Amino acid sequence: MAQSSQAGSPTTSDFYRRWLGPVLSRDEGLDAEQLSRSALTALGQASLRRGWPGISTVLNGVATELQRRDLRLEQVLFGCRFSNPVGLAAGFDKNGVAAGIWDCFGFGFAELGTVTWHGQPGNPRPRLFRLAAEQAALNRMGFNNDGAKALLKTLERQRLAPSGKRPAVLGINFGKSKVTPLDQAADDYAASLEVLAPLADYAVINVSSPNTPGLRDLQDTAHLRWLVERLRRLPACPPLLVKIAPDLEDEAIDGIARLAFEEGLAGVIAVNTSLDRLGLEQRRLPQTGRPLAEEPGGLSGCPLKPRALEVIRRLRAGAGPALPLIGVGGIDSAEAAWERMVAGASLIQLYTGWIFQGPDLVPAILEGLLLQLDRHGLRSITEAVGSGLPWQD
Ligand SMILES: Cc1cc2nc3c(=O)[nH]c(=O)nc-3n(C[C@H](O)[C@H](O)[C@H](O)COP(=O)(O)O)c2cc1C
Repeated sequence: MAQSSQAGSPTTSDFYRRWLGPVLSRDEGLDAEQLSRSALTALGQASLRRGWPGISTVLNGVATELQRRDLRLEQVLFGCRFSNPVGLAAGFDKNGVAAGIWDCFGFGFAELGTVTWHGQPGNPRPRLFRLAAEQAALNRMGFNNDGAKALLKTLERQRLAPSGKRPAVLGINFGKSKVTPLDQAADDYAASLEVLAPLADYAVINVSSPNTPGLRDLQDTAHLRWLVERLRRLPACPPLLVKIAPDLEDEAIDGIARLAFEEGLAGVIAVNTSLDRLGLEQRRLPQTGRPLAEEPGGLSGCPLKPRALEVIRRLRAGAGPALPLIGVGGIDSAEAAWERMVAGASLIQLYTGWIFQGPDLVPAILEGLLLQLDRHGLRSITEAVGSGLPWQD
């Protein structure tokens, strides 16, 4: 388990549990978006000043508590060296403010964004809702972000190590600006990627967020091919991955697996939030009084776990072991992480589970994965990926 606190020196996890535990156990109370914003403001300041003595001492303390270094967890995928397979999913650090310190929280990689070419405010608030009893969230943020040029400035200000020399791999997730018509989407993605390519270890084409009208239409293979081919023509293009929705039909998932192979994509990220209410149709949001069946937005967290796992299995069956997959959706324990990896995901990402469980979820997962490697007599996490090996208590 994650490091326990010593008398007189509370850990990050103690702090999180004590102060945020009561807030996170209720749907109402402190607004979910406001909570994330406050945390990001503090993390952003820490990242900018991470060389300052007091701040570096705190960050070193956090890193000592949350990082788990072990060569068996390392992988090289699409030209990037991942120190471990656990990443922060897109959407938490949309503007990249804490890009310089995600490694301190134990992550092997972090995905910034979604960023769009035009900065945009997103949908009206409230637009992020906790579903505490279900360890889930509903969001209809709508790609609120400061835009690609602002992200570039934010990253430059943090003086990140150059690509390949960073303690955590940094991906950037790209979306379409709301004002851009669908038939001009390729140029919109390309404009953002052109500006940010030098800073991205990998780039994600996000065609799966449910909160930008029409965006998911870009998941059909003709549109996706058009997008990928446009981005490939840029003077510099990092490894390209596509992030897909959990609500696709199985045949459409097979089509994406085929396209990934034909177009030589670096990987597929599965999955984004769901438009399906996954058994929670009648669950009411206290803030609006309406059932989820009538609320727009994407569902994330625990209820998404079974479908997210199915999609990884389907992709693996369609694409085989050569295509790296990133599994995301409902991962809230070491066992869920193991299950996703043995189903075919080389890497996994956390969002909702990390918020509810707190920062020690990352070391708990890493320790759990290492224990499973021992139990199965495997030498590295690569041997576990797609192996189908069961979790052993
Ligand atoms: C508040 C919130 C905002 C999100 N924003 C984005 C986003 O901007 N881009 C994206 O690709 N995914 C976004 N996601 C989706 C997550 O990256 C992830 O795919 C999804 O939440 C499933 O993982 P989880 O169950 O661990 O949360 C967002 C999720 C949440 C909860």
